[in-house]
Amino acid sequence: MCSMVVPLLLSTFVLYSCIGNASAGVTSAFVRNEWPSVDIPLDNEVFAVPKGYNAPQQVHITQGDYDGKAVVISWVTTDGPGSNTVRYGLSEGKYDFTADGTLQNYTFYNYKSGYIHHCLVDGLQYSTKYYYEIGSGDSSRRFWFQTPPEIDPDASYKFGIIGDLGQTYNSLSTIEHCGQTDAQAVLFVGDLSYADRYDHNDVGIRWDSWGRFVERSAAYRPWIWSAGNHEIEYFPHLREVIPFRNYLHRYPTPYVASESSSPLWYAVRRASAHIIVLSSYSPFVKYTPQWRWLAQELKNVDREKTPWLIVLMHAPIYNSNDAHFMEGESMRVVFESWFCQYKVDVVFAGHVHAYERSYRISNIQYNVSTRASYPVPDKSAPIYITVGDGGNQEGLALRFRDPQPDYSAFREASYGHSTLEIRNRTHALYHWNRNDDGKRVPTDSFVLHNQYWGDSHRRRKLKKNHLFSIISKRAYSQ
Ligand SMILES: *[C@@H]1O[C@H](CO)[C@@H](O)[C@H](O)[C@H]1NC(C)=O
Ligand SMILES: *[C@@H]1O[C@H](CO)[C@@H](O)[C@H](O)[C@H]1NC(C)=O
Ligand SMILES: *[C@@H]1O[C@H](CO)[C@@H](O)[C@H](O)[C@H]1NC(C)=O
Ligand SMILES: [Fe+2]
Repeated sequence: MCSMVVPLLLSTFVLYSCIGNASAGVTSAFVRNEWPSVDIPLDNEVFAVPKGYNAPQQVHITQGDYDGKAVVISWVTTDGPGSNTVRYGLSEGKYDFTADGTLQNYTFYNYKSGYIHHCLVDGLQYSTKYYYEIGSGDSSRRFWFQTPPEIDPDASYKFGIIGDLGQTYNSLSTIEHCGQTDAQAVLFVGDLSYADRYDHNDVGIRWDSWGRFVERSAAYRPWIWSAGNHEIEYFPHLREVIPFRNYLHRYPTPYVASESSSPLWYAVRRASAHIIVLSSYSPFVKYTPQWRWLAQELKNVDREKTPWLIVLMHAPIYNSNDAHFMEGESMRVVFESWFCQYKVDVVFAGHVHAYERSYRISNIQYNVSTRASYPVPDKSAPIYITVGDGGNQEGLALRFRDPQPDYSAFREASYGHSTLEIRNRTHALYHWNRNDDGKRVPTDSFVLHNQYWGDSHRRRKLKKNHLFSIISKRAYSQ
């Protein structure tokens, strides 16, 4: 093992380079100048308020049901309550249908929110482009979105994965790069606006600016939300102590459709994927609502219909960065054995402001009476991917632990996002795309083989060759 540390110059990344034996992972030696990790000033055009009296702003959509035939469209008006109606249709300017939403407003310390509209548009057709219009008269605004294909094991679909985004120039680069990939929906792994870095009324003001900032993407493609620690916003000195208040008012999720009791954990099915969203900052130990819900939801997964089982959470379960080291350990202890039992394909997390990918490993052989406690290769285990590198104002997590643990396949401390391009029931192409200053550079890529269909394919093949009897019970008894 070798290790080399280049001293940290003001705006230069630390370089860790470690080339171990053949099976060891890679710590990327990429170095470049860092753009300032500061939030873009509020008067910058990226936060521009749309023109016109009471014009809808902060427009964003998310999946509105379990199977992808509905969206929730959300927006904010600031001059008055305005209209709750979404007009929509199959061609631009021809809005044959309408749906009516709900309106709410709230205060946070002395900040008064605008009028927040959420409108469920359901009964949509699959694989269809819809155009929609909100607001009235001269201030009305027009957008579009594309519904996913029908639930089908071979439906192809491309997800972008973004975490820990914030509202800096690096964040803008991440959103723009993700847009260039034609990702059809975004899986967001928590920590949205970083408004909690502000105080008093500026907290609410920075939630609003973030809403205007992400509209360029989120008005046109659903973002599947999960909550991070920056959404908690526990501010006793402002007498704001109810967790997730700003987040929950603004970013609805279709949790009722998956029989969850909380918007913070839920599941959706989209094309050939079953996506489970967990909350790292809500109770999850045995017998809690989240634990009981997940136990049931994993039973509901039908890999014959949705072969791809994807889990989102904020705090990573495997992380070899000094930042937030072992913060996901408590959830690992509770859920890791299920992830292996149900053969989850991939777990995406954020929180650590760097990129890291694991091998298929598990640490479920451990119990309090066994001394050995370390991850071992496990074909049933998911791949764990940390994409907390969206580019928020806290900057990068530059210190990886040395030596690189055996479970860590690739790690790099720079900004970026991932894409998962599902081709069919057996194959998906995965990329991590680094923000290389102005450019998007695919850096870590591999073919993801489906955990369920890979196995049954092998099962069929082996059966044909009369080798079934020698297959270990362990692999097939589930
Ligand atoms: C919501 O808006 C109404 C109408 O403008 C206003 O009277 C009320 O005080 C607002 N409520 C909150 C909680 O801000
Ligand atoms: C814990 O490990 C010990 C030693 O391998 C084993 O005897 C025991 O059955 C294990 N307990 C559980 C609950 O798995
Ligand atoms: C699935 O996609 C992969 C990658 O594009 C391709 O090689 C494979 O033949 C496809 N399988 C089927 C059954 O279409
Ligand atoms: Fe975080």
